[in-house]
Amino acid sequence: AEQQAAQDVRRLTRTVADFPVDGVQFADLSPVFADGPALAHVVAALATAGPCDLVAGIDARGFLLGSGVALNLGVGVLPVRKAGKLPPPVHSESYALEYGEATLQVPAEGIELRGRRVLVVDDVLATGGTVAAAVALLRRCGAEVVGAAVVLEIPGLGGREVLDGLPLTCLVPA
Ligand code: PRP
Ligand code: MG
Repeated sequence: AEQQAAQDVRRLTRTVADFPVDGVQFADLSPVFADGPALAHVVAALATAGPCDLVAGIDARGFLLGSGVALNLGVGVLPVRKAGKLPPPVHSESYALEYGEATLQVPAEGIELRGRRVLVVDDVLATGGTVAAAVALLRRCGAEVVGAAVVLEIPGLGGREVLDGLPLTCLVPA
């Protein structure tokens, strides 16, 4: 599955220069998600980062993968949302993005995170700010983050270093 997934991703990903701002190389995985066999391969390959008790998918592109990975592993999915989408009470973590700044939130009630093994899933690791913020947020909630799984790593932005030794599964390495 891993080899097939990497092949599909290389074949179907569209790289766009200077979007959303000058100097950023945008990796558009939409054609990968829209291809049935490719989506299945990618989700199965990301699921090798398990086992875990819960998958955390990061708003918004991480949602497309997170629930597939969760189904694959037989666990539930937790949406790690951008600010303002979840009702209170929430736990929040702010972070710098490759372009701009943002805040991630998870529900502070209704989902037990303490002591649970959580796998963080997103589409792309660039500066690592997004995944690192999700990891920090989940740890603050008492979760044990077992690793992060992404489809693509953008080279030269230091994303892997930011994760500070957390096991990282990346289908197409930098
Ligand atoms: C993109 C991408 C990753 C993040 C990677 O999300 O989907 O989540 O940037 O960048 P980083 O490693 O430098 O933090 P974006 O915030 O653009 O939002 P979206 O997923 O809602 O499209
Ligand atoms: Mg994103």
